[in-house]
Amino acid sequence: MPSLSESNPVTVPSLVAAKGRERIAMLSLYDSPSAAAADAAGIDVFLVGDSVEMAVYGRPNTLSATMDTMVRHSRAVADATRRALVVGDMPFLSYQADVREAVKNAGRFLAEGGCGAVKLEGGARSLAAIEAIAAADIPVMGHLGLTPQSFRKLGGFKVQGRDAAAARAIAADARALADAGCFAVVLECVPDTLAAEITRAIPVPTIGIGAGAACDGQVLVFHDVLGLTRNLAPKFVRRYAELGRAMEEAARAFGADVRSGSFPSREETFSSDPKHGLRRVR
Ligand code: KIV
Repeated sequence: MPSLSESNPVTVPSLVAAKGRERIAMLSLYDSPSAAAADAAGIDVFLVGDSVEMAVYGRPNTLSATMDTMVRHSRAVADATRRALVVGDMPFLSYQADVREAVKNAGRFLAEGGCGAVKLEGGARSLAAIEAIAAADIPVMGHLGLTPQSFRKLGGFKVQGRDAAAARAIAADARALADAGCFAVVLECVPDTLAAEITRAIPVPTIGIGAGAACDGQVLVFHDVLGLTRNLAPKFVRRYAELGRAMEEAARAFGADVRSGSFPSREETFSSDPKHGLRRVR
């Protein structure tokens, strides 16, 4: 089996084999240009996250995501991706109510969305859906700790597993997810010691977000990494660019040029000469 960095495309077996050998880099992203850029940069896994509702559609949480929205964004990402494994995030109520529905919805991510796997949230309460999806040969990634679709029950977006009983329950869930067939488990907003313990205990990779450095991989939302998210700075985010500021500056410069009359210039204007087509005339 080639190493993860040599895998092209990245497959589920190559990710599992990377555990303990190479760290896995994963980004949550939703569109074609983002996927093309992150793929060229060698990111291993793209999650088409239901966080699209917050990052792109400006919703206050992820509960409004629908299967149709998620499949459409998945297709855009998959079509622009050559190497990374694309994972579709199953939205709220697409897998909780009925196991048969869960399998059908997971299948849509592969058949219509072009994904190589799906992710869903929850431990014991999601095991029946995970087992059924895995039995249909659809690779499943688990998600434990702060599971944003449960924020109402959790009382908000809070660190999970801080007391001993809660930590034991999350660790037991992680073992159960691996036993049920998950090929990787996202650990969101849990203490680093708990993430380290789970990473040692289960045979599949852990991917952390706000879960410390011991995880087998790390995931962040690309909008956060790029500095596109306003008014939101979770402690675990590292911003590698300030594109929100760059967008504002570009919009301000455009507005100023329109108002001053310096846009469009002669070069940006068509003449009556039929030789001058849509392409820029130099
Ligand atoms: O929806 C999402 O982007 C996620 C990641 C943050 C793990 O679930």
